[in-house]
Formats: sequence, structure tokens, C-alpha cells
Amino acid sequence: MVASVAAGLECSETTSRHTSELRRLSTFLEVSQTLAAASNQKVAFHQVLGILERHHHVVRSTVALLNPNDEIEIVAAEGPPGGKAGATFRLGEGITGRVVQRGKPIVVPRVSREPMFLRRTAERPELAREDISYVCVPILLNRKAVGALGADFRFKADRDFDRSVKFLGVVASLLAQAIRIQRVIDAERDRLREENTHLKLELRERYDFSNMLGTSGPMRLVCEQVAQVARTDTTVLVRGASGTGKELVAQAIHDNSLRAKRPFIKVSCAALPESLIESELFGYEKGACTGAHATRKGRFELAEGGTLFLDEIGELNISTQTKLLRVLQAREFERLGGTKTLRANVRMIAATNKDVETAIADGSFREDLYYRLNVFAIFIPPLRERKPDLLLLADRFLEKASLANSKHIKRISTPAIDMLMAYHWPGNVRELENAIERAVVVCDGQVVHAHHLPPTLQTATASDTTMSLSLEDAIAAYEKDLIQDALKTSRGNRAKAARLLSTTGRIMNYKVRQLGIDWRRFKK
Ligand SMILES: Nc1ncnc2c1ncn2[C@@H]1O[C@H](COP(=O)(O)OP(=O)(O)OP(=O)(O)O)[C@@H](O)[C@H]1O
Ligand SMILES: [Mg+2]
Repeated sequence: MVASVAAGLECSETTSRHTSELRRLSTFLEVSQTLAAASNQKVAFHQVLGILERHHHVVRSTVALLNPNDEIEIVAAEGPPGGKAGATFRLGEGITGRVVQRGKPIVVPRVSREPMFLRRTAERPELAREDISYVCVPILLNRKAVGALGADFRFKADRDFDRSVKFLGVVASLLAQAIRIQRVIDAERDRLREENTHLKLELRERYDFSNMLGTSGPMRLVCEQVAQVARTDTTVLVRGASGTGKELVAQAIHDNSLRAKRPFIKVSCAALPESLIESELFGYEKGACTGAHATRKGRFELAEGGTLFLDEIGELNISTQTKLLRVLQAREFERLGGTKTLRANVRMIAATNKDVETAIADGSFREDLYYRLNVFAIFIPPLRERKPDLLLLADRFLEKASLANSKHIKRISTPAIDMLMAYHWPGNVRELENAIERAVVVCDGQVVHAHHLPPTLQTATASDTTMSLSLEDAIAAYEKDLIQDALKTSRGNRAKAARLLSTTGRIMNYKVRQLGIDWRRFKK
């Protein structure tokens, strides 16, 4: 009888051990699946701690990792009262600090009796009430601790701590694997990012874009595209509204190409009448038409070895489009009235501000020619979409125009800048260049003021009032402009601004109030 009871007990003990082994194995599986599927490591660590809580009666748990400053940082925490994530402590500090420092687990069977926990229990009195056991194991990467996994269990006198340490040790090694993989990915991403920056810099250094100003994202992209395509013979189609800098881009491609020392020939398809465009492009033989007294080379021949820039290609008539298509395909052509076939060693760049797709749809542009031209397309966005470039361009144009007009204009006043920034620039960079040129011509001091800018730039309301502006209002506007300018120079110091304008501080304060000027905005 005694023997059978003993056998029964043994049997139930074996079964319970079996169940607990199974539970551990399925936990390992769930943990490794969670870590493998996660895209965010911190979230995954939280989920892993959640698994421990659900299946292994873990009351509280934390994952702490060593950060680059050699601090131990809690990156994930689960269980009441929670909210510890983000806390940091030093190597060797507290239990976790020691585990990471020594790379060995620490078990505290009864937290309430552990002097090292005194501060923790003082902060969290519930620890003493609950009577907790604490197990902390290192997370080891290449035998070096990179962090620690800590878990609070409810105190049980017969708990097998060896098994707990082994169990948490396996979970910690799964975490270590995930950390190792993440580090490899991070290192690879950093390497690629560095290589990318380096290559971009190299491209910028290798190519000269000094004429093409702009630091905005879209302009940097344009420069990168120019650099990519310049050294090839690929046909390029430059698109963008009028005055955005299409010709400048075409020139930059040529200047940075292997053909840079050969001619860059421009044909404006809109400027030439239909009857002349073909003879301009392909040339003619003597007697080919009335007035053809001698053989004349066309632009294709003149561009031999270099680049032919076909501007406003959207204006080309259908019959010339057909001839152009042949040159693009076969790289050969004949002069008008001639029979000799000439080879065309020419790189072609075309530009248009027209909606070519609509022209194809209504039959005024050949689709096959479009595909031949559009091998590499560069789009230049309108100036209003790249405001960061505006001041850079305005300053360059100011410098250029002052020099050309022998003036010593140093800068543009804040209200004038505000006006430049507020305007929508339908004529793009060309319009800006003209506006600054005009301002330089009418400016008689060292600073371009708002009233020097063309009337189109005054805001809608301001330009309406220009007509009906009373003398008093006009003087007030001028006064405001001058005061704001002086405040800018004095960085918001009103007394200094008063001295600059040869007036008194009292008058300055009065005017600032009267004209509603916010002098604080000029403080740096
Ligand atoms: N990024 C830039 N940096 C400096 N100057 C520029 C820039 N973009 C345009 N410009 C200047 O603006 C003016 C107009 O440029 P460009 O003639 O190249 O424009 P476009 O697109 O060909 O215009 P359109 O369609 O009217 O022919 C030129 O004087 C050019 O030098
Ligand atoms: Mg142009």
C-alpha cells in the first residue's frame, strides 16, 4: 500500500515535471517566433516579457541593455507598477548593474531580506509585502554581458532557483541572438548610409554645378540627375515651367560631359518659322531652294562631337518631328536638297514647358519621338515649390546686378525679403532675376527695400492701395521699412537703431509703437 502511494506520488511528480518542461519549450518557441517576427526590437522585448508573465507567473520583469555611454538602460519593463522603461543606472550599481558588470546571474531568494534591495523596497513598499524572489541573468554576446534580464517571482520556499536561472538564461540567449542580428542590420545600414553620403559628395565634387544654385531637396535631386547622366550619351528631356532653368540644366549636362570641349549648339524650335527649321537643323546644298546660293551646314553638323540642345521641342511641327526621329534612331541625315548621308555624332538634350502628353493625345506630337527623347527625364519644379533656394538666388542676382551697375548694394531688407517669399513667382527664376535687376537699378542706397521691388510683387492688398495711397500712408510705409531695417542691423536694440537713424530713443520707441513694429523679432 505504502509502495503504491509512493509510486503514485512519483508518477504525479513526473507528470508535473513533464508539463512544466513542455511549457518551457513552448515558451522558448513563442519567444523566438516573437523576436523573429518583430520589426521593432523594444516592442518585441515587451512582448517577450508578456509571455513570461502569462506562462511562468513572473510578477515583474525587465530587459536592461548597456548603451554606448556605458550606462545600463531599461529598454522594456512589464508588470506592476511598471513605467520603469527608460531608467538608467551605472555599471556595478544595484543587482542588475552587478550582473552586467560580472556577466554572472544573481539570485535573491527573498528580496525583503536582501540589504541590496533596501533602497528598492523603500521606494516600493509592496515588494516587502508581497515577498518576492528576484532572479537576474546576463544577456551575453560573444561571452560579454550587453545587458540583463531580470524577473520577480512570488516567494516559494521550495523554488528550484537553479532551474529558474537556466530557464531565464535560455530566454536571455534568445534575446542576445536578436540583439546580434539587429546590430548586424544596423551596421550594414550605417555603412550604406555613409557610402551614400560619400558617393553624393564625390558626385558633387567631380561635377561643377557652380552656375546652378540651389540647396533645396528638389534642386539637389536635379544636380544628382545631371551628374548621373552627364557622362553618358543618353538623350535627356528637361521639363519645367518657363524660367525654371531648363537651359541651365542642359548646359550643365554638356559642361560636365565628355563632350564639354566640343560645341554646345542651341536650337529654339519656337523661335524659327516652320519653313526654316529644317534647313537650320540639317543645312542645305547649294541650289536646294531659292536663296541657297551656297552649301550651308545645319546645327546638327555644327554640333558634331558635341551637344545639340533642342529648346521648346513641343513647338516642332509634325514633318520635322518625323525627320528628327530618324536622326535619333539611325544617327544619320541628309542636307536639304542633298543625297549624301551624313553621320550625326551628337548628344541630344531637349526641353519643353508644354504638356507633351496632351499634345500626343491630340495628335500634335509623335508618341514614338516622345519615347526616344524621354529616355532620361529631369523635372525642374517651379520656384514657389523650392523657397529655400529663393534667398540664395536673390543674393547671387543682387551681387551680379550691383557689379554690372557699379553699385554697392549690400543686402535686401527684411520687409523686402518677406515680400519675395510671399510672392508666387509665375515667371520662376527668370522673373526673380529681373525683379532684383530692376530693384538694383532703382535703389540709391546700400539696401534693397520693399518699395524698390516691382509693383507685381506688392501683395494684392498693398498693390490695390498703391493707387490710392495717401502721402501720409506712403511716408508711414517708408518709415516702417527704414526702422525695421535699422532694427535688423541693431539686432532689435532700439537705442542703437535710433542712433543709426540719427534720431532719439524716445522717438524710436514712439514710432515702433505707432507703426506696430514687433522689434523683438529682430533679436537674435
Ligand atoms: N538654379 C539656378 N541658379 C542660378 N540661376 C538660375 C537657376 N535657374 C535659373 N537660373 C537663371 O534664370 C534664368 C532662366 O533660366 P533658363 O533660361 O535656363 O530657364 P528656362 O527653363 O529655359 O526658361 P524658358 O522655358 O522660358 O526657356 C537664366 O538667367 C538662368 O541663369
Ligand atoms: Mg529656355
